[in-house]
Amino acid sequence: MSLSSLPYRLLTLGIVLCISTSVINGTVLFDFTTCDPSEADSWTEISDTVRKPGMSKAVFALQRTRVFQRGVMFAMINPQPNGAGFAGVQRTLPDDIGSRDSYTGITFKARAQGQLKYWKVVLVDSDQVANRTRYDYEQKFPLDLSTRKFEVVTLPFSDFKAYRRGKLVPDAPALNFSDTGAFGLQTFGGVYDGYKQQGSGSLEIDSVSLY
Ligand SMILES: *[C@@H]1O[C@H](CO)[C@@H](O)[C@H](O)[C@H]1NC(C)=O
Ligand SMILES: *[C@@H]1O[C@H](CO)[C@@H](O)[C@H](O)[C@H]1NC(C)=O
Ligand SMILES: *[C@@H]1O[C@H](CO)[C@@H](O)[C@H](O)[C@H]1NC(C)=O
Repeated sequence: MSLSSLPYRLLTLGIVLCISTSVINGTVLFDFTTCDPSEADSWTEISDTVRKPGMSKAVFALQRTRVFQRGVMFAMINPQPNGAGFAGVQRTLPDDIGSRDSYTGITFKARAQGQLKYWKVVLVDSDQVANRTRYDYEQKFPLDLSTRKFEVVTLPFSDFKAYRRGKLVPDAPALNFSDTGAFGLQTFGGVYDGYKQQGSGSLEIDSVSLY
């Protein structure tokens, strides 16, 4: 079938329309409502068990019902007495997101249930994905556990800060999204924060977009 043939163009239009219904705004980075079930295998756990005292756990799953599909991160934080502890998942970025310079942030709708109110997005530079020895870039966000409603989360790149082992690295260069190689979702005990959290929670997400 020729790439310019009518059936091909209708097929392309159909795919674009299908995807766009789940787009909040901007370019879709991950669309869990239409992705292949194998997408779940692309997410790997990065939790505090990389260190000896770690006891937390996170799992990324695709929830597939008769009427919808979405991504869910399940997490359990078992912190140290000082609040240290984290649980998360990450995935390498897809290649087909165009020029990175044209985006100014990340947006998605999410719902949290359970005991974990504070979450973060973690952006890892390409050269740190396999062996993280430097810092990564993080932005925290709270969700309302009482409403059971999906909330819009908007995270400008300019508000990401560099952290190493959860601690701010004040003199690190600003995030350059062109250098980002992996996207992570994480929840944490709050060792360096004015709040502490522990226990279990879930984070439901339909799709993640760049704007
Ligand atoms: C859409 O993008 C704008 C930034 O251009 C952002 O402020 C807003 O929260 C986004 N809206 C939704 C529904 O995600
Ligand atoms: C990870 O990177 C550090 C610093 O560049 C290096 O010393 C270490 O050998 C690397 N580890 C692995 C497993 O590649
Ligand atoms: C961001 O990184 C890209 C590719 O590494 C580079 O071309 C660009 O100049 C960088 N932007 C800034 C503001 O440093």
